Amino acid sequence: MAIRAEEISDILVKEIEGYDPEVKDLPYGTVVQVGDNIATVYGLRDARAGELLSFAGGELGIAMNLEEDTIGAVIMGDDTEIKEGDRVESTGKIAEVPVGEALLGRVIDALGNPIDGRGPIETTETRTIEFTAPTVPERESVHEPLQTGIKAVDALIPIGRGQRELIIGDRQTGKTAIAVDAIVNQRDTDCYCVYVAIGQKTNNVAAVVDNLREAGALDGKTVIVSASANESPSMLYLAPYTGCAIAEQLMYEGKHVLIVYDDLTKHANAYREISLLLRRPPGREAYPGDVFFLHSRLLERAAKLHKSLGGGSMTALPIIETQLGDVSAYIPTNVISITDGQIFLDNDLFYQGIRPAVDVGISVSRVGGSAQIKAMKKVAGPLRLDLAQYRALAAYAKLSADELDKQSREQLARGARLTEILKQKQFDVMPVELQVCILYAATQGHLDDIEVEDIKEFENGFHDYVKANHADIHKELVEKKSLSDELNAKLDAAIKSYKEEFLAGRNA
Ligand SMILES: Nc1ncnc2c1ncn2[C@@H]1O[C@H](COP(=O)(O)OP(=O)(O)OP(=O)(O)O)[C@@H](O)[C@H]1O
Ligand SMILES: [Mg+2]
Repeated sequence: MAIRAEEISDILVKEIEGYDPEVKDLPYGTVVQVGDNIATVYGLRDARAGELLSFAGGELGIAMNLEEDTIGAVIMGDDTEIKEGDRVESTGKIAEVPVGEALLGRVIDALGNPIDGRGPIETTETRTIEFTAPTVPERESVHEPLQTGIKAVDALIPIGRGQRELIIGDRQTGKTAIAVDAIVNQRDTDCYCVYVAIGQKTNNVAAVVDNLREAGALDGKTVIVSASANESPSMLYLAPYTGCAIAEQLMYEGKHVLIVYDDLTKHANAYREISLLLRRPPGREAYPGDVFFLHSRLLERAAKLHKSLGGGSMTALPIIETQLGDVSAYIPTNVISITDGQIFLDNDLFYQGIRPAVDVGISVSRVGGSAQIKAMKKVAGPLRLDLAQYRALAAYAKLSADELDKQSREQLARGARLTEILKQKQFDVMPVELQVCILYAATQGHLDDIEVEDIKEFENGFHDYVKANHADIHKELVEKKSLSDELNAKLDAAIKSYKEEFLAGRNA
């Protein structure tokens, strides 16, 4: 068949005339590539960073990388059903999670789904996982104590409601133990708790859940958010923001919340993994350039709110794991600079049996002092001084075996007893009034003539003795929260009479 040139050109002319040059953005995009919980999506030019994207099969993703033609998105949950060519729609929203008191006592995943087998969570409230931190005028200075029930912390590194205090140390040095004890100690207070487990083994999280339930600090009190080690990095990345949103909701309702992020090292590693898969340029230690912002925007949301906003508070205890005590690595220095102080746990102390292994020499709390009750402030002063002198002397005494002068010997003896008093078992949280009594006894020298190995027994007996026979001292401390000359005299007398009883029992 012959081809007629005019006919072809006629068709072409018609086609060209009918061509509408308007560029239209399709309301949906297309998956170009998918794998490792990361999808590259073509189209969706209007999508914003952090926006929630909806995939054809109902899966959700978050737009992370906005490039000229494509979007790099992190898929939440399972990505196996998503295929190249699938449609993707933007939702105009950012990710939200369920919040509200119905979550108390529950264990949820990073998306807010219950994972404790206790049925659905009855709540209609939701909150976006990202939220701007309160501004300076919206805040108030930290002034109410958040008692952890741990003597070494409450006396020397006091934490106030609304503070951010880092718990930092090598692996297996008791970091989680301190945070969990702090939660247990909120049992009888008006402070709610959120524990976020990031990248931990499932059995470790289960142990924390069991321990909290057994201590009576889970039901009606604590929410557990868990993204365990076997979940995708996107879930690990989301978990702390989810926990933060839950805590934030309570804070804006005028309540008090303690939130633990266990731990942010694993969070940073998950974010690094996501960023490398998104082909973002790696920076120091292969972390992306905005890894500081990852944690600062999270921790800035902890605050003590101004009265006009209800006066609620969110206290944050982020945890960081170090390698061989190296606090100068990238992520530790970042988080140290974002927080208001750090509780430093030392491996050597832990193995010497000084547990909690808090290195009181280098641990600090920059704002909690103003939240400490007066009585504790009174006893913490001499305690700090005695311990500092003890540390200096102990190092020296190890070197020179020569005779030490009497004063040095006394200081060493005092220090050894104080160190013993600061040892505390896990889940053995102590009300601040009792802490004051025993620290008063120790710093006033009442324990100097008790053998170091008997100190623990003395302490336990003494607390029982005070509770049984000196309810007035206990009551006055609870009510007035300060030490008067009169109360000191009563305490001195109580200590003396118990000591006589104790020593008589020893010698008998
Ligand atoms: N005050 C304490 N007294 C006695 N044992 C303790 C104390 N604190 C922690 N431990 C024990 O030390 C071990 C390590 O504690 P924990 O799990 O809290 O450490 P971690 O630093 O969180 O460890 P990881 O790095 O694995 O997360 C646990 O077996 C715990 O029971
Ligand atoms: Mg731990």
